[in-house]
Amino acid sequence: MIPNSTSIKIALAATLCASFSLAQAQSPHHVPYNLEEARQEVEAALDLDADVERGRKVYEVCAVCHLPEGWGSENGLYPQLAGQHPSVTIKQLADIRARNRDNPTMRPFASPEVLGGIQQIADVAAYIAALPMSPRNSVGPGRDLERGGELYQQYCAECHGDQGQGDPEEYAPRLHGQHYPYLVRQFEWIRQGKRRNASSKMGRQVRELHPRDERLILDYISRLSPPAEMVAETNWQNPDFPGFVRGSMGMPYGRGATMPPMMPPMPPMMPPRPPQYPAARPAPPPHPLDRSRPEGSE
Ligand code: HEC
Ligand code: HEC
Repeated sequence: MIPNSTSIKIALAATLCASFSLAQAQSPHHVPYNLEEARQEVEAALDLDADVERGRKVYEVCAVCHLPEGWGSENGLYPQLAGQHPSVTIKQLADIRARNRDNPTMRPFASPEVLGGIQQIADVAAYIAALPMSPRNSVGPGRDLERGGELYQQYCAECHGDQGQGDPEEYAPRLHGQHYPYLVRQFEWIRQGKRRNASSKMGRQVRELHPRDERLILDYISRLSPPAEMVAETNWQNPDFPGFVRGSMGMPYGRGATMPPMMPPMPPMMPPRPPQYPAARPAPPPHPLDRSRPEGSE
């Protein structure tokens, strides 16, 4: 049997993951390693005609972690991607490829060998933008949202919009609907300069914020609602991936139709679970403020 292209891509990704530097060195494709090239890649991808249907095929590989809905995980390991501006997704993918944003878990999948060229980047970004967003992102503890809102309008709305809708022209991400722990992690990384791609744009402006205020703002953001027409029905499942098998404990576990049976399991590509929740113990009870969905349904 001739394996389909997704099988090849996933097999390739597994190999890349195991010996990534070697795979890089031998890559026949050109990988942009510097900022200028990443910027050019972004601009070139934005100029292309993107095709959602082609993007769906590219997204098969992404669904392994990001799930068919692109809704992310409430613990913030995975971001909500659904509904994001194409320019933002394109820039993040180009930056990850150019090692301008660290994402060791995902990087092999963003490589030219697996993801493809700028046309595929443009297509998958269009597909992601068209996905309806999660009706239940996780939110913060809910303390002093009023102050959070004031600070948000003062420090952030200029770039991220008064409703957290982002600004595609400026590559500023849509923030509403994003999981609170993901917002916290990314904001911290941007502030510390660990997420290098963002340092010049927003780093300077937010560095002096007090950590307490930072949490208030991010909590407020996590409660901003995306426009109703962009949000999915509760329990919506993406019909584009009917064979997708969902794992338990909220861990993405994409198998079934998108995974060939002879493939070895992929533990090294999964980010480690938080150490405080070893697999043997039952999951902790949901936080009362956490608008959780039923286990395994994300
Ligand atoms: C092996 C798991 C895995 C696969 C496969 C994967 N990703 Fe990711 N992706 C992640 C993780 C983990 C993060 C969050 C990284 C972080 O915390 O900075 C992420 C982050 C992202 C982000 C950044 C979002 C933001 O707003 O900051 C984008 C965009 C993205 N992924 C797109 C994709 C696309 C497109 C594909 C398929 C080509 C894909 N990913 C495949 C694990 C994966
Ligand atoms: C000068 C414009 C600007 C301001 C002001 C700004 N940001 Fe940003 N922010 C950006 C841009 C641009 C990005 C994307 C950076 C990149 O390319 O990776 C970003 C990224 C982020 C991200 C990561 C989102 C993701 O999906 O990965 C978070 C979280 C964030 N900003 C929160 C904030 C908060 C909170 C404030 C106010 C305290 C703020 N930003 C102020 C421009 C800005």
